[in-house]
Amino acid sequence: MSTYLDYSATTSMRPEVLERFTAVAQEQWGNAASLHQWGNRAALVLERSRQQVAALIQAEPEAIAFSSGGTESDNWAILSPYLADPRPGHLIISAVEHSAIARPAAWLEQRGWQVTRLPVDRSGRIQPADLASAVRPDTRLISVIWGQSEVGTIQPIAELAAIAREHGILFHTDAVQVAGRLPIDVQRLPIDLLSLSSHKLYGPQGVGALYIRPGVELAPLLQGGNQESGLRSGTPPIAAIAAFGEAAQLAAAELPHETARLQSLRDRLIAVLATEPRLRLTGDPIQRLPHHASFIARGGTTGTSQQLVRAMNRLGFGISGGSACNSGRSQPSPVLLAMGYSPQEALAGIRFSLGRSTQLAEVEAAAIALRSALHSLPQASLLSPA
Ligand SMILES: Cc1ncc(COP(=O)(O)O)c(C=O)c1O
Repeated sequence: MSTYLDYSATTSMRPEVLERFTAVAQEQWGNAASLHQWGNRAALVLERSRQQVAALIQAEPEAIAFSSGGTESDNWAILSPYLADPRPGHLIISAVEHSAIARPAAWLEQRGWQVTRLPVDRSGRIQPADLASAVRPDTRLISVIWGQSEVGTIQPIAELAAIAREHGILFHTDAVQVAGRLPIDVQRLPIDLLSLSSHKLYGPQGVGALYIRPGVELAPLLQGGNQESGLRSGTPPIAAIAAFGEAAQLAAAELPHETARLQSLRDRLIAVLATEPRLRLTGDPIQRLPHHASFIARGGTTGTSQQLVRAMNRLGFGISGGSACNSGRSQPSPVLLAMGYSPQEALAGIRFSLGRSTQLAEVEAAAIALRSALHSLPQASLLSPA
């Protein structure tokens, strides 16, 4: 028996989504820009999907630009001030961004831009007052991750976005981990740009979207055939976009029930592992993603995170060491370091992320397995609990 508990890394297409993917790939696979019937059929699919994705976040369909995923949407948003005017300016991000924001921000820094990284507390939360005092006359964009992928912490996005709006600064959020798991309403929140990724919500990999508030002028990241109203060139992968739309619609319909279910499974996992002296919960205990539980193994050293992931794999459980995108590394997690953990502690992060198929018995079995995985670690890599 094997149990996948890494739904923050990726999810498999649910049957309805796969069915839609296949149907469109077989029957409506045209180039949506073509003027013949094949093109027209694909264009209809594209617009239906745009409506479905828009509805997930309460947006107008024309505010959705399809992209190749969360990474592209994040890069596009953070680079957009530079694309519009490359003369150096100031950006504000958080110290706990996904690398799809952190890396392009560092790239801009190498080109003379100034980047303020808002500090976080031990739970990974930003103080809105810190954002207010970081704003400068030359601040061109503020980008803060909504739900942190590695430690699950949810930021006070409404307050942060309100500060940005007050100062007339563009506000972007990476909502890749939040979409389909918590309600998002861009009508009520002053968010200008928001990144989505299909494969985190049971859609296919390689497709995502950037929400662009109507009226916000955004320079394209990719130029070519002027698809997506000239904002994002490239022939739309019509079957993947159709499947993303279907996944978004199903996620929206099931969200209230599924969020509550995941939250109770997550709370059970955290409660069972709270009695394990060699573990410490990371991230905010309350303001956290509903499907997410993350820990550090106390007294860990280089490789502890990977050793635990491998030991869990041998026991039949798929979990992740911190962020999947960076797994395989033996560097301390920058996110845990920013939260005030020591370099040694930041080498020992692990993450469980639950999903649609997860059942209570699996969560309880995973907790038992983790205890035995902790036992299996070389003694040198796990000192007595502090
Ligand atoms: C918070 C966050 N942002 C961005 C991404 C990148 O998304 P994609 O895999 O669709 O490029 C991920 C994926 O791990 C993520 O968790």
